[in-house]
Amino acid sequence: LGQGPLAGKRILVTSGPTHEPIDPVRYIANRSSGAQGTAIARALADLGAEVVFVTGPAEVAPPEGVEVVPVQTAQEMMQAVEAALPADAAVFAAAVADWHVQGAGDRKLKKSKDGLPSLSFAENPDILKTVSQRGEGRPPLVVGFAAETNDVLAHATAKRERKGCDWIVANDVSPATGIMGGRENAVTLITETGAEDWPRMGKDAVAARLAERIAAALA
Ligand code: C5P
Repeated sequence: LGQGPLAGKRILVTSGPTHEPIDPVRYIANRSSGAQGTAIARALADLGAEVVFVTGPAEVAPPEGVEVVPVQTAQEMMQAVEAALPADAAVFAAAVADWHVQGAGDRKLKKSKDGLPSLSFAENPDILKTVSQRGEGRPPLVVGFAAETNDVLAHATAKRERKGCDWIVANDVSPATGIMGGRENAVTLITETGAEDWPRMGKDAVAARLAERIAAALA
């Protein structure tokens, strides 16, 4: 334990989708596999970091050698993140649902002759924004993700400002790229000094390169 450039550093990583219940047996989710977040957690641990991995119900197994905190909903993820702080850095790779179903109860919705059920939504906490804008206990390096389908650079640059994070890892998730659910990723890293386009590479290679950058920033 504790070897490598990130030895002694505690890093929080969120990953995967969230599941927002409709009733005890049904939920709303998204297509995040958790592949990129899992690769990042593994790469950080490989550089010696103590990693707290807060994950929604992902398709891929969590990495070895990290502290795994499984959650289902955005609200649970927010609480787990707060409980995991303080940290030297935080990487928010989770695809968090923007809304939860209001009044999801402990009884299964039943078919009725009286008509169809209707769902109403309430906003979920924005975990990245909440942590980025914390005064006390803000991790010195906060990294967010931006999955965009158009005007990637402009949207991601605006997102960095709006959320208040230090870096944004932006990617184009247009269906034609095959990135969502695929093995490769092509990202732009946006920092305080500008934007860098990284070549298309495997998600493991993106993770390794990001982990190296984080190690350099925390050194
Ligand atoms: O707002 P948007 O979902 O486009 O921002 C994406 C970034 O914000 C990702 O880093 C994601 O993990 C984070 N996020 C979050 N909590 C939310 C929504 C997004 O942490 N409720």
